[in-house]
Amino acid sequence: MSGDIRLEQERIRPALGVNDLTGQTAASWYVAMRSDALKDKPVAIKLFGQPLVAWRNASGQPVVMERYCSHLGASLAKGKVVEGCIQCPFHNWRYDSTGACSHVPGHSTAVPRLEPIPPTARQAVYPTTERYGFVWVWYGTQVPLFPVPEMAEAESPRDFMRLSFAYETRTSVLRIIENFYDAQHAAPVHQLPITAFELKLDDESNPPPGQEGLAREGAWFGAGIDFHVERYFGPVGIVSRALGLNMSRMNLHFDGYPGGCIMTVSLDGDMKYRLLQCVTPVDKDETVMHMLLAIKKGSGVARSAANFVLFGLQTWGAAGYDVAIWNNMKSDAGGAFSKYDQLILKYRAFYRRWVNKVAQEQPSPMRDSRADPRRSAHG
Ligand code: FES
Ligand SMILES: [Fe+2]
Repeated sequence: MSGDIRLEQERIRPALGVNDLTGQTAASWYVAMRSDALKDKPVAIKLFGQPLVAWRNASGQPVVMERYCSHLGASLAKGKVVEGCIQCPFHNWRYDSTGACSHVPGHSTAVPRLEPIPPTARQAVYPTTERYGFVWVWYGTQVPLFPVPEMAEAESPRDFMRLSFAYETRTSVLRIIENFYDAQHAAPVHQLPITAFELKLDDESNPPPGQEGLAREGAWFGAGIDFHVERYFGPVGIVSRALGLNMSRMNLHFDGYPGGCIMTVSLDGDMKYRLLQCVTPVDKDETVMHMLLAIKKGSGVARSAANFVLFGLQTWGAAGYDVAIWNNMKSDAGGAFSKYDQLILKYRAFYRRWVNKVAQEQPSPMRDSRADPRRSAHG
């Protein structure tokens, strides 16, 4: 290994306060659950430390709402979907996908002699959308501030093979999503045989195609790492060498957003796969990391299968090594940075702007929800 990547004991700055971010959640899109886990029955989920219920309305769109009924607090997750609304199991009050109470047995807004539905009968809901096989919720402001990240390759089955997997972790969101920008762990944790690397930061005003929507709202973080490597790494390096596959440059390009990242991996200038990393913030230091890979098909079935193994299964295994580190780290510890941590620090500055947006507006759609009739379920 060359001296290029030996850690110099040069401290960028004491970086006081930089760790106060690690436990905070930025305004962003997050994965509530996998689409295939949400069928016709309500499902109890927990996000941002809050007990919620997910269900599908009459048109099949997902709804994510406060779990406990505004009447006497029964769990709507034990109820059922009736006529496109969720019905509480206790007194059969129903709520529509905006969270408004649409029906109370014996009450009616249409029939004046009946009691009207109480105005406080309302469930808070998160803006929700569905893409790439995930149900997404928007967190931090009432209305989403940017679109769900664009990864066309995940929706191009003709040219790309899909693989998705998830790991439960005992760490914070930021610790997971800043990991891509950490070039120094590639050799010790992932056994990448690096001889040198360069860090690159993109110009915010010049996003690549597909990321303009994020960039327009200041929600795009473009960066890259160029690794000079000796060969394929890990156990499947043996397979790759048997196939005569070798490489000398591995370029990682990152299209980050406040709640995750799309990484594009090229070997010797040839794009091999794209990876969407997104997270489910369940509770403090309880996060699920999802990865969705779109792996470029090769010429012929054998080459495609080799690509799937090389890039897909290897990434799956590699992510497990990260998770083992995260599960045993203290999320707010550390703070002595080297010059090789520059991308992490840049990302943290970007992340801070999106944490601050939560503070400027309503901290959570859960707060004060009953007072706001404008809330809508679909962003
Ligand atoms: S507790 Fe839900 S209807 Fe009464
Ligand atoms: Fe890693």
